[in-house]
Amino acid sequence: MNMWRFLTLTLMASVAEVLGTAGQYCSVNTFTSNTAGMQFTKEPVPTEFGFEDKFKSIHCCVKGYRSIEWFKNGVPYPWSAGVSNLILYPEAANQTLYTGSATRSDSGNYTCRISNETHSDVHTITLDILDKPIDRPRRMFISKDQWVDEGDELRLFCEALVGKSYLADALSDLRWRKIWPNGTEGDLLPTQNETRTHRDDVTDIRGSFMHVARVTPLDFGAYACVVHSNGAVVTSNVTVHRRGNITRVPWAGGGGGGGGGAVPWRALVLCAACGALALLSVAALHRRCTPRLLLALQQLRARTAGPARRARVLEKDFDVVVCWTPVDEEVVRGALLPTLTLKYKYRVHELQLSTMPDNWYNEMSPELARCRSLLAVVSPSQYTAQQLLEALRQLRALPLSPVVVLLQDLPKLKREAKESGARLVEVVRGLRLLAWRHVHDRAFWRELRPLLPLPPSHYQHDNKTNTTQNSADSVQNTGSLTALV
Ligand SMILES: *[C@@H]1O[C@H](CO)[C@@H](O)[C@H](O)[C@H]1NC(C)=O
Ligand SMILES: *[C@@H]1O[C@H](CO)[C@@H](O)[C@H](O)[C@H]1NC(C)=O
Ligand SMILES: *[C@@H]1O[C@H](CO)[C@@H](O)[C@H](O)[C@H]1NC(C)=O
Ligand SMILES: *[C@@H]1O[C@H](CO)[C@@H](O)[C@H](O)[C@H]1NC(C)=O
Ligand SMILES: *[C@@H]1O[C@H](CO)[C@@H](O)[C@H](O)[C@H]1NC(C)=O
Ligand SMILES: *[C@@H]1O[C@H](CO)[C@@H](O)[C@H](O)[C@H]1NC(C)=O
Ligand SMILES: *[C@@H]1O[C@H](CO)[C@@H](O)[C@H](O)[C@H]1NC(C)=O
Ligand SMILES: *[C@@H]1O[C@H](CO)[C@@H](O)[C@H](O)[C@H]1NC(C)=O
Ligand SMILES: *[C@@H]1O[C@H](CO)[C@@H](O)[C@H](O)[C@H]1NC(C)=O
Repeated sequence: MNMWRFLTLTLMASVAEVLGTAGQYCSVNTFTSNTAGMQFTKEPVPTEFGFEDKFKSIHCCVKGYRSIEWFKNGVPYPWSAGVSNLILYPEAANQTLYTGSATRSDSGNYTCRISNETHSDVHTITLDILDKPIDRPRRMFISKDQWVDEGDELRLFCEALVGKSYLADALSDLRWRKIWPNGTEGDLLPTQNETRTHRDDVTDIRGSFMHVARVTPLDFGAYACVVHSNGAVVTSNVTVHRRGNITRVPWAGGGGGGGGGAVPWRALVLCAACGALALLSVAALHRRCTPRLLLALQQLRARTAGPARRARVLEKDFDVVVCWTPVDEEVVRGALLPTLTLKYKYRVHELQLSTMPDNWYNEMSPELARCRSLLAVVSPSQYTAQQLLEALRQLRALPLSPVVVLLQDLPKLKREAKESGARLVEVVRGLRLLAWRHVHDRAFWRELRPLLPLPPSHYQHDNKTNTTQNSADSVQNTGSLTALV
């Protein structure tokens, strides 16, 4: 009798203790934003794990709401014992459900529906109650790729169930690592503050926030959330993209140059804008001739370039990396690549992308270090509006301003862009779009070539005897030069 009372008391005491802290889950490590309206106060974790006969709580951390309703597999709370043992923890304002002793049948999809006077939103948590510790870590949450500007706040979160350390010296650990452009993993920078978290309900759930108060250029790039447990390593990657407000005007500053780096952007943008204005007014008069003039000027500059400039051209292995997806293989291999390499002598690097654009940034960025420019071939007709926007967004974030060759017309995306929270001009800005009609379309090549840096052959002015190889070109160009000057 006494024994029973003692046991129940200690059980109740420990549940009360865990509950005290479980109730706090939604009030620690919250987002810092102070905007009004109904919103989640921290990253909504979609996957939860618990263990049989152990305490488990799940949460829907929200503020500014009027009501929260819970459903398990569509059945509204309160639940009969056959559905779920989880009950509301009233002190947490309906944001937390818990059970002191979980069973396998508590597994399932728990949905919270939050509402204010005008809106409602749902978040679903898939709860899995396990009967024994796991060997391999299981990821529960990782932030999506981020798009931020310099000076913004950046916050990444990763959470996983790590295995119990049954090996004496095995470490179970979850942390953020930076992936350098050369592909190696390194420590975070001192300004990248990492905060480890643990749960009071399940001690094997580990998490980590990486927080940067003000983003600097060094913060852009890829990060890995690395989970070690019993010798197993699970890595998940996130990329922090530059949202960027830089206006890059077609034609201005195309030159032979290196791109990227610490550049006085404001001055450059201003210069570029003025230059572009001047060029555009010329273009209005000489639509056909302007690209030729630009190319001729470019070639003139290349011929008079000093040895340092020539050396810089040769520093990169390729003049242009051409990217395409499988549907465009035929056009690219059959027409575009041969003309670029054989006729115009560009040193071309070939890169086939996956059809879906979600990972293009990661697929392309490692290749860019070796190339002077980027040409992406895109078939808008194979994508939905959302995918197309994503494609443009991924291309835009790249450190080299890409030339985008469109094999069909771009559909009207204004509305979709607006719905996804960006203006279309912002998405398209910085991209140099060019329509492809057919391989013998001279206008296409006339417009494309000034957008790409000149191949090295144009820089070898010392070998005068051998410049005749491009004689057709030079005649055409000096012709247009004299016609215009
Ligand atoms: C309800 O929440 C939405 C989303 O946060 C917000 O835009 C809206 O203004 C809120 N409505 C009221 C009446 O507070
Ligand atoms: C909290 O949950 C109870 C039981 O489902 C419900 O009656 C009550 O209205 C809820 N309160 C809020 C603010 O959602
Ligand atoms: C829970 O959701 C997942 C993903 O949506 C689904 O595959 C699964 O069948 C759902 N489980 C139940 C019991 O509804
Ligand atoms: C990769 O880059 C980082 C930072 O630039 C550098 O510290 C590291 O030594 C490089 N590793 C290799 C293998 O080049
Ligand atoms: C994450 O990036 C690293 C380094 O680039 C790579 O080795 C690893 O395969 C990537 N993992 C995933 C899941 O993409
Ligand atoms: C890092 O974050 C923790 C928790 O948010 C905070 O207490 C600490 O002051 C931060 N450190 C720095 C250097 O910002
Ligand atoms: C970039 O643009 C956004 C809105 O378009 C603005 O809020 C932000 O201040 C701009 N950032 C910079 C660095 O100009
Ligand atoms: C002339 O061209 C040859 C072969 O293309 C090259 O090896 C040589 O360095 C060039 N001469 C000069 C002075 O650039
Ligand atoms: C010039 O080109 C010819 C063949 O086109 C070649 O035989 C000769 O070596 C080249 N001259 C130089 C200086 O590279």
